[in-house]
Amino acid sequence: GRRPQLREVAGIPLQATTVDNWSQIQNFEAKPDDLLICTYPKSGTTWIQEIVDMIEQNGDMEKCQRAIIQHRHPFIEWARPPHPSGVEKARAMPSPRTLRTHLPTQLLPPSFWKNNCKFLYVARNAKDCMVSYYHFQRMNQMLPDPGTWEEYFETFVSGKVCWGSWYDHVKGWWEIKDRYQMLFLHYEDIKKDPKHEIQKVMQFMGRNLNETILDKIVQETSFEKMKENPMTNRSAVPTSILDQSISPFMRKGTVGDWKNHFTVAQNERFDKIYRKKMEGTSIDFCMEL
Ligand code: A3P
Repeated sequence: GRRPQLREVAGIPLQATTVDNWSQIQNFEAKPDDLLICTYPKSGTTWIQEIVDMIEQNGDMEKCQRAIIQHRHPFIEWARPPHPSGVEKARAMPSPRTLRTHLPTQLLPPSFWKNNCKFLYVARNAKDCMVSYYHFQRMNQMLPDPGTWEEYFETFVSGKVCWGSWYDHVKGWWEIKDRYQMLFLHYEDIKKDPKHEIQKVMQFMGRNLNETILDKIVQETSFEKMKENPMTNRSAVPTSILDQSISPFMRKGTVGDWKNHFTVAQNERFDKIYRKKMEGTSIDFCMEL
């Protein structure tokens, strides 16, 4: 079928349904006790959401499943008429709310800054992120066709993908992290030591859960468990939107899959571009475990 085109807001490519709903999104009224999960796409959004859910529900998987069915932590910029938009869903949620966004800092509705909300950012290394996004665009019928891997490489490094440039997104959130109530996590760290990182999230949320519950959350949020869980593997989404026969939503969940995709030449070119784009930034990424 034909794939929809992206449209730009202030130079950032977005889905047309988001752009159509732009004024409602910009006027979104955040509340001081909102927790906003912020990510560049394919950086572990679904994973951190499940972790936050499990913490909220004290490790009770059934309650967690029910909460997801009810709210699913709306993306504030989500819009697909005639369904209720992310803004409408968020409005209907009881507080304290956990919301999600892929927006870069400069496009975030201003009320989040004004209300000094809590931000939970998860960053993933650019190479694995690119690989994951490539496969996601192959299967997601709501996004442009990624073309060949070689073509996608150029699209990604030039930031012409939905939600804009990885480099600007990560730099933007990283640079303001000390000025706001923000917990900044790395996908690779959660993978390496989930218990330690989940504890950080717990503390950030002001929760104190015992060791048994913590261990349970670690288990239930593993890639293997989440791949089997219909609430997190997106198996209920129609194939006309997500065609999992092309590539599963829960694809690999590893650090270093980029090595199976990048040629030596691409890797050299990527590193060169990366150094230039990330010059002067102190953020560091683990590229393999
Ligand atoms: P891969 O395509 O590399 O497998 P998002 O939720 O932001 O769209 O990110 C999706 C990526 O996170 C996918 O990466 C997916 O497999 C991975 N992921 C989801 N749940 C995970 C988990 N519990 N552990 C590790 N990776 C996970």
